[in-house]
Amino acid sequence: MKIAILGGDGFVGWPTTLHLSAQGHEVHVVDNLSRRWIDTELGVQSLTPMDSIQERCRIWRETSGRTIHFHLLDLAEEYERLKAWLAQERPDAIVHLAEQRAAPYSMKTDRHKVYTVRNNTNGTHNLLAAMVETGIDAHLVHLGTMGVYGYSSVGAPIPEGYLDVSIETPTGPKEQEILYPTRPGSVYHMTKSLDQILFQFYAQNDGLRITDLHQGIVWGTHTTETRLHEQLVNRFDYDGDYGTVLNRFLIQAAIGYPLTVHGTGGQTRAFIHIQDSVRCIELALGDAPKAGDRVRIFNQMTETHRVRDLAEMVAKLTEAHVAYLPNPRKEAAENELVVKNEQFLELGLEPTTLAEGLLEEVVEVARRFAHRIDRSRVPAVSAWTRELGAKVDRDPEGKALRSAS
Ligand SMILES: NC(=O)c1ccc[n+]([C@@H]2O[C@H](COP(=O)([O-])OP(=O)(O)OC[C@H]3O[C@@H](n4cnc5c(N)ncnc54)[C@H](O)[C@@H]3O)[C@@H](O)[C@H]2O)c1
Repeated sequence: MKIAILGGDGFVGWPTTLHLSAQGHEVHVVDNLSRRWIDTELGVQSLTPMDSIQERCRIWRETSGRTIHFHLLDLAEEYERLKAWLAQERPDAIVHLAEQRAAPYSMKTDRHKVYTVRNNTNGTHNLLAAMVETGIDAHLVHLGTMGVYGYSSVGAPIPEGYLDVSIETPTGPKEQEILYPTRPGSVYHMTKSLDQILFQFYAQNDGLRITDLHQGIVWGTHTTETRLHEQLVNRFDYDGDYGTVLNRFLIQAAIGYPLTVHGTGGQTRAFIHIQDSVRCIELALGDAPKAGDRVRIFNQMTETHRVRDLAEMVAKLTEAHVAYLPNPRKEAAENELVVKNEQFLELGLEPTTLAEGLLEEVVEVARRFAHRIDRSRVPAVSAWTRELGAKVDRDPEGKALRSAS
């Protein structure tokens, strides 16, 4: 298949690109490299030393003999170029990962809110409109998030995208299937909720074939292909905006920093290893809906954990110390989360569990590259409201206090 990977230079995109190329697909990365610019804006860098996308593609060609094509294009701002590119390349499948994906970054300031909405919502809509206009029949696989469901405890398992409801009408109750109601917890999650509506409309109006993957929080770094050469290494974000919770605990442990748990740590979240994330995208590509079908929705996660239990697990493994800090997010202090994920298991996913992969990550990645960490970028300081911002702990190590004495 000819596959376009939008956002193919990113954390999920790069290993997905390598994996699909290794399987013999013709892979085209489309990326505006905005994520690399955001690193510069925030004054951070990937824990792992990451080469330019062109260099990564060159190393892959030398290692595997296969070519990855790179196209510098902004999905949200360059509609005409995107349309011309699709008309010329006519991919069989499109994997859409090209969005601003950090909830804390999306809540940083009003400018970051505006940027996230413009980038994500325009990008997705531009893509859908261009697919219709060019008449290509590509299967679109989008990476959404479990966060669209919200994290309130409803007491029932979260289904894969759709909910059967019974509505009272004058002639009696009527059964209907609806998109599971969204309850986004940040501007970023809100854009993913909007994406869902865009997909529903274009599948119904134009017969676009769309799969939406509601992914959990990704942890881990390596996949089979990124291990093949040190310059193929995946990015690893550890800073307070982009670092995901478990990866942050791993680097905190590696540098003797307290494991920073926000609030009571009673938030239950869904997780998936990067290798499984890549495998799920491959499985979804192989199981496309037909034109006229409703949007196919999968829950792309393999296990759920409470944040404080994760911190305790990492602390036990590494003798790190856990620090409980004020929560910069506006969210329930404690929540239960039960999620259905049978569809991927039925398609053959064999999950990598935390219990098997965690120690290897600490040793192989976090400790190996610990010298690249800037401790001042570790605290999570983007707050959801002004009031919460006033309570944020910017110095979990207590360094400022010591120097003042
Ligand atoms: N990482 C996670 O834990 C996680 C969890 C759930 C869902 N997701 C979703 O998976 C997708 C990929 O996430 P990731 O962690 O790889 O993020 P990432 O930020 O590492 O990668 C996104 C890539 O998209 C590119 N991009 C952004 N806007 C673009 C635009 N307008 N035009 C062209 N390219 C653009 C960026 O430069 C970057 O290379 C995102 O949509 C994200 O919401 C990620």
